[in-house]
Amino acid sequence: GKLIKVYPEIKHAKHCIAIFASGAGSNAKKIIEYFSQSPNISVSLIVCNNAEAGVLKIAAHYHIPAIILDKEKFFRGNCYTDELKEAQIDLIVLAGFLWKIPALLVKVFAGKIINIHPALLPKYGGKGMYGRHVHEAVIAAGEKVSGITIHYVDELYDHGKNIFQAVCHVSSGETPDTLAARIHMLEHAHYSKVIEDILLNTGYITHHIN
Ligand code: GAR
Repeated sequence: GKLIKVYPEIKHAKHCIAIFASGAGSNAKKIIEYFSQSPNISVSLIVCNNAEAGVLKIAAHYHIPAIILDKEKFFRGNCYTDELKEAQIDLIVLAGFLWKIPALLVKVFAGKIINIHPALLPKYGGKGMYGRHVHEAVIAAGEKVSGITIHYVDELYDHGKNIFQAVCHVSSGETPDTLAARIHMLEHAHYSKVIEDILLNTGYITHHIN
């Protein structure tokens, strides 16, 4: 028969993602599921600041290691840069992570941290603007459209360069809950594909025109 030679050392190393999340983790779940069969990308770490967060159950369910952050170490220690390097993390994905990313972590992972925000930045961003608060402000201002923004992370809240936006209508009679549901659908539809494009240059970002 044919001789087949295998060169395991040539096999490409997977891109490793760490997802930082503080809450329910619906985005984290979508991303984990999207890449679960991928030969190129793996979600290899979940990082969380809240021991009660739903995202930790998701991590356990999918057998993904999780780190619960110690506040002192995160803000005044090494910001877990050693642990993230040890895990060979290539991209840090914030998915409903509510702590500010310390300057040291931004520096060590320069250009390798992205965030999703549930509005069309630069509007409705900044400190205190997360989850429900964002949708309440959008509705109170009488906006006709909202959407999602995926952007690079720098030392300021919701400030780094935009990567991707998608829009949705804000209908009359909209409540923060109905708007949150629509925004979550947009997030779930796009975040994994944008991550995949960042790591593998699939062209998704440039081909997606609102
Ligand atoms: C998402 O809608 C995300 O955009 C938002 O928190 C939610 C987390 O939901 N992030 C922010 O508001 C950041 N300022 P999830 O835990 O179900 O993924």
